[in-house]
Amino acid sequence: MPVLEMTPDAALAAMVSPGGRQNPYPFYEAIRGHGNVVEVRPGLMAAVGYDECVKALREPRMRVQDAAAFDRTFPGWRDHSSLRHFTNSMLYTNPPAHIPMRRMVTEAFTVPRIAALRSTVERMTDELLERFAGLGAAGAPVDFMTEFAFRLPVAVISHMLGVPESDQVWFREIAADIMIALEGISDAKELEPANAATDQLAEYFAPLIAERRRTPGDDVIGTLVRVHEEDSDRFNAHELIGNLLLLLSAGFDTTTHLLGHGLLQALRRPVLADRLRLEPELAAGYVEETLRVEPPVQATTRWATQDIDLLGHRIPAGTKLLVILAAGNRDPRRYERPELFDPDRRDIRPLSFAGGVHICVGAPLARLEAQIALPRVLTRFPRLALGGTPTYRPRWLARGNDWLPVTTG
Ligand code: HEM
Repeated sequence: MPVLEMTPDAALAAMVSPGGRQNPYPFYEAIRGHGNVVEVRPGLMAAVGYDECVKALREPRMRVQDAAAFDRTFPGWRDHSSLRHFTNSMLYTNPPAHIPMRRMVTEAFTVPRIAALRSTVERMTDELLERFAGLGAAGAPVDFMTEFAFRLPVAVISHMLGVPESDQVWFREIAADIMIALEGISDAKELEPANAATDQLAEYFAPLIAERRRTPGDDVIGTLVRVHEEDSDRFNAHELIGNLLLLLSAGFDTTTHLLGHGLLQALRRPVLADRLRLEPELAAGYVEETLRVEPPVQATTRWATQDIDLLGHRIPAGTKLLVILAAGNRDPRRYERPELFDPDRRDIRPLSFAGGVHICVGAPLARLEAQIALPRVLTRFPRLALGGTPTYRPRWLARGNDWLPVTTG
């Protein structure tokens, strides 16, 4: 059946199939053909319009799936340590409990605190590029994802959290496995790698937390440990671990893919790559357009606690709404020729960091890293080129390349 004639249910099944995950975008258009908010099947709806996604994310009666919601929808979920840990984090907690938990973390991620990291990020970028030059010197393709896109964000978040540098390499696989828990999977068996990875990371954090208790520090772990010690009613030990797991995994897996998506756009458009080399100030718009066209987090979900009118669409109480951020970013009512990558567009406001009370805490950090790194990579290697066919990892929600070979020329 031609993609554009698919029912919403068929399009949804196709976009999460192994083939669909490589390029889900045509399936979003198939859903859009049925409306900006559509019923996929009873109890499940999808929002693909820009304004509808914004409204859903800001609507206080649409809530994230917290422990109480898991109890209703997924008997036995407590047997999965990944879900147990995530429901202790702010991402799976609703107001009012969400508010103080988030406040404690946002203090470490304010725009001025992130801006103060600029020189550190520049230095880390240059060191990694020096290493990259050595790897590419013989002319063979080097995987940009493994050798740069993963290493920069993990170095930055580890520096902020206060995690030893020597431990960073094993975080990559661990974080990729942990992110499976966020995929909204249908078969509980798929959670096994996520459970194993979360257990490993939780065990890893335990001695670091004990160490900060003995020797307080002003890194993020130190700050959260202090807040927990001062008032454990406000922030208990489970929440401490849950939020650290979230910060470490969400803190670099996503940014890694932003760097990969941004570089791939430049390699496919040499004129744009040259402009970024000559005008690094273009980087801000370039990064926003990358986020719009290729969001590292394709979607999120919300649950209607009551019957809700969403810009004229009725969402019955109890419905799970898939808010497809990647589709909202390509709404033709919001952006002309939305499928085109054009960093000169005016008023680029991607939905890629979501919105409302759960809007991404790390957005200023991710933007800073990408705005610094992308022009520097291109300037350091004026003849950088694709060295093979990039592939995407077999995930739908957390979209990114697992192989992006480049030659440094
Ligand atoms: C390009 C990079 C990133 C993308 C695309 C991204 C995307 C997102 C999205 C879509 C959400 C909201 C999920 C929802 O509403 O259900 C979110 C939340 C969150 N992100 Fe990010 N993120 C990125 C980088 C980061 C970084 C660098 C950090 C931390 C250092 C971070 C930490 C968080 C946290 C803690 C939340 C939960 C906020 C809450 O529930 O109140 N993210 N992110």
